[in-house]
Amino acid sequence: MFPTHRPRRLRSHNQLRRMVRETVLTTNDLIYPLFAVPGKSVANEVKSMPGVFQLSVDKIVEEAKQVFDLGIPAVILFGIPEDKDVEATGAWHDCGIVQQASTAIKEAVPDLIVIADTCLCEYTSHGHCGYLEVGDLSGRVLNDPTLDLLKKTAVSQAKAGADIIAPSGMMDGFVQAIREGLDEAGFQDTPILSYAAKYSSAYYGPFRDAADSSPQFGDRRTYQMDPGNSDEAIKEIGLDIAEGADMLMVKPALSYMDIIWRVKQACNLPVAAYNVSGEYSMIKAAALNGWIDEERVVMETLTSFKRAGADLILTYHAKDAARWL
Ligand code: PBG
Ligand code: ZN
Repeated sequence: MFPTHRPRRLRSHNQLRRMVRETVLTTNDLIYPLFAVPGKSVANEVKSMPGVFQLSVDKIVEEAKQVFDLGIPAVILFGIPEDKDVEATGAWHDCGIVQQASTAIKEAVPDLIVIADTCLCEYTSHGHCGYLEVGDLSGRVLNDPTLDLLKKTAVSQAKAGADIIAPSGMMDGFVQAIREGLDEAGFQDTPILSYAAKYSSAYYGPFRDAADSSPQFGDRRTYQMDPGNSDEAIKEIGLDIAEGADMLMVKPALSYMDIIWRVKQACNLPVAAYNVSGEYSMIKAAALNGWIDEERVVMETLTSFKRAGADLILTYHAKDAARWL
């Protein structure tokens, strides 16, 4: 009698497949990114990201209600300020756009978790994630002066109501600096979700349209990680854990599944994967052309992040996925 082992036995019926499925995606796993812009009744669709909008605060509140009603537990906020300058004033000002949006969302939908992305690139005139010597066109971001600005930014975001602080600029020591700032200001209980292993990636292209945050000269290779590296991700997460990070992120997701896996094996913290803009746009473009089945491709992709070890997924597909679930 050959063969003895017939793995197909357990695949023979949908209910049986449900019973033996190892990885299950749920709405609890999803975090939806939102882009706040100044103005009233503004909803600008991002050209390179069909279905994603820059929203004024009034519109973002409506969107937040919808997201909450779909059962998605959290949003992450990015801001496009009125003005940009070398000090990234719009990032840390108490009336900054993310601060306004955080306060408005928490007032309207108190149970929705608001994560504030904490970086300077949307707010600096040069588009880099940190402080540059005035007149320096080499794009060499000064690490420690940037930490002071990030600290101020995080504290003002927490004051405005943000539940979680998510620093994304890959500055050395940023988790410790922000932790100190939050603790001194009385926000000992505000968790930090660190973009711990963030790669210098071409997949961020559409996001930079959405957030108007392209570097005006140079690139981000002196602070974001080299795509060839994997051991270095483990070094980065080790530092962030030591500095007090509560959760860790790997970004991007699709080309970095091995990193998600290694990070999850190497730590005992919740791990988030950022399914970034370029990953979203590729699926969207193919779907709009009728070349792939959007629902099936999205659900397969999101499930595979969980299988790789992600506990949480930041994704522009979150609303669609919640509906399909
Ligand atoms: C920068 C930042 C980036 C993203 C979020 N915050 C990338 C970058 O411009 O370097 C990318 C998100 C996406 O592509 O969806 N702090
Ligand atoms: Zn940045």
